[in-house]
Amino acid sequence: MKFFLDSAKIDEVRYARDMWKIDGVTSNPRHVRNSGKPFMTAIKELAREFEGTGKPISVEVDPHHTTPDAMVAEAVKLAAISKNFVIKIPATEPGFKALWTLSEKGIRVNLTLAFSPIQALQAARLGAAYVSPFVGWKESAGEEISHMVEEIVAIFRNYAFKTEIIVAAIRNTRQIVEAALAGADIVTASFDVYKEAFDNPWTTLGLKRFAESWDATPYE
Ligand code: E4P
Repeated sequence: MKFFLDSAKIDEVRYARDMWKIDGVTSNPRHVRNSGKPFMTAIKELAREFEGTGKPISVEVDPHHTTPDAMVAEAVKLAAISKNFVIKIPATEPGFKALWTLSEKGIRVNLTLAFSPIQALQAARLGAAYVSPFVGWKESAGEEISHMVEEIVAIFRNYAFKTEIIVAAIRNTRQIVEAALAGADIVTASFDVYKEAFDNPWTTLGLKRFAESWDATPYE
């Protein structure tokens, strides 16, 4: 299972790359705004950090686009900036048209803002490289979503689709474990969620106990 970082902040991206060997990055307009940089500056910086690695970086087209042509035109422009770029296209009817148009041009798409197995199925049959079902938003709204990722995984296996599932909008480490249990290919989570994944009070307690024993034992 691959771990992607959901961020456009360069310090977080560098840390995740150098410390955690992160497998890729996903950004969205909110992350780019939080980076404090203009869109083009932020995404070009991300591209530089991963140049030559082959690791995918998802960048999203302008969410105001309402036509496939507008999405395709921007996607083509963005894809030309970096070999690492995968273009995020929203799971709307014009988005699906843009998806298959781009996939026929050999441009990798991450179908984003997917909230149901049928959207994921459409993404796979139309050639998406990735599909991103968002789990956190629905869960926060009190919806029962425990089977959504499992269903998407089962559908993709039934038809041997190559599309990789990125479980997105992860809010806690338990959701990472659930995504792994369901058999998802990838999770994308924030810097803070990954940081939490390394902390366990029992490990801290265990280290303290062992340190006490270590201090009470001669080395030679
Ligand atoms: C995924 O690719 C999205 O960038 C992300 O997970 C969106 O959700 P969030 O920003 O609310 O976490």
